[in-house]
Amino acid sequence: MKAVRPDSVFAFLLGLLLVGTPGRAADAAQQPADKSPKLIAPAVSTGTGLLLEPALTLPEFTREKFAAAMATVGPEKIQRPWTNPVVTLPPHPRADAKGLTEAEVKDYMLEAKHLFSRGEAVPLSDVGLISTQEDVIRQPMLNHIAAFSNAVARVYLLVQKTASDQHWSYFSIVQDLTVTPALDYYAELRKEGPKFEGTSCYKCHSSGPLAIHPAREDLVLDAPLAAAIGRHIADQPRSQFVFPQDSPKPPTGEKLTLKFCTKCHDDEGDRDALYQVHSHPIRVLVDFGYMPPNRRLKPEEIVELKAWLEQKR
Ligand code: HEC
Ligand code: HEC
Repeated sequence: MKAVRPDSVFAFLLGLLLVGTPGRAADAAQQPADKSPKLIAPAVSTGTGLLLEPALTLPEFTREKFAAAMATVGPEKIQRPWTNPVVTLPPHPRADAKGLTEAEVKDYMLEAKHLFSRGEAVPLSDVGLISTQEDVIRQPMLNHIAAFSNAVARVYLLVQKTASDQHWSYFSIVQDLTVTPALDYYAELRKEGPKFEGTSCYKCHSSGPLAIHPAREDLVLDAPLAAAIGRHIADQPRSQFVFPQDSPKPPTGEKLTLKFCTKCHDDEGDRDALYQVHSHPIRVLVDFGYMPPNRRLKPEEIVELKAWLEQKR
């Protein structure tokens, strides 16, 4: 038997601590143990020319203003101590469920909101890069994001407002893991209850929950938590978007077929295929150097992607 190096045991324990799932811990064990877990790389525009609007750096939005704006949700609800970034939910009452009912999905969404309101969630707080850049709102988009799970569901809560809004809005995604592929339900949590949505969410959420990408390195509370939740999201199972009847799939436009993206983003890939309707997150994630994940595009590849983005539908 191969000897187990003490540093890999340490990395394994660290992995358990951070993510709490054996799959991730095995990955973590392969990383050098003396490095703390990898934080999200800071967002810096690489000047590809793919953005339609100049990149925002928000110089007037200081760390202090950010922290104060985030705390308006109730300081006791955020920056909570944690060991597991994903809060464990009680076991599902129907242990052998094959397909959650819409009522069960809504219950999970409301449970996530209640846990957050009682200060029993583990939310990260950030200004989201994709929602802030370009012409969508062009001001800081403040997000508190918390993750929950049990054997049948992965549940996400988003508590959101722009820097100038008064009130926080609540959104949720529930992944039903009792079927293959998993099913993703999206909703706005209104006063009267969850309202399932699809059309607008799909424009950014092409492949389920989106990994965390803060707009600036200092616009995040608890960077290690943001990294851990981001990894939990990036490792999600392949899933299928559930569109409610009154909020159908929007026209997608052409499918992205450039090889340097379809290696991962394709019908049979790790992530769902991308279409012209996803231009906004594509422009932002590529320009800020996050996509592809492990290298920069070559100039000629940027030209190809730009031509594809600019073609008429
Ligand atoms: C303009 C793009 C955009 C649209 C449209 C959008 N989202 Fe998101 N959403 C994001 C981004 C970006 C994040 C992660 C942000 C971060 O890094 O803080 C996110 C995060 C979330 C999260 C937290 C889990 C996760 O994916 O990280 C939930 C829940 C969520 N969105 C729900 C919704 C719902 C429901 C809709 C439709 C009503 C919607 N979103 C529409 C961009 C969008
Ligand atoms: C090696 C695999 C890989 C390649 C190649 C790749 N991506 Fe991704 N992409 C990912 C992963 C993993 C995620 C989720 C994690 C994240 O967002 O950081 C992702 C997320 C995205 C998202 C957000 C929607 C989603 O699927 O979560 C967009 C948009 C995106 N990539 C665009 C691109 C574009 C455009 C290219 C080509 C220029 C590209 N990617 C190349 C792996 C890849």
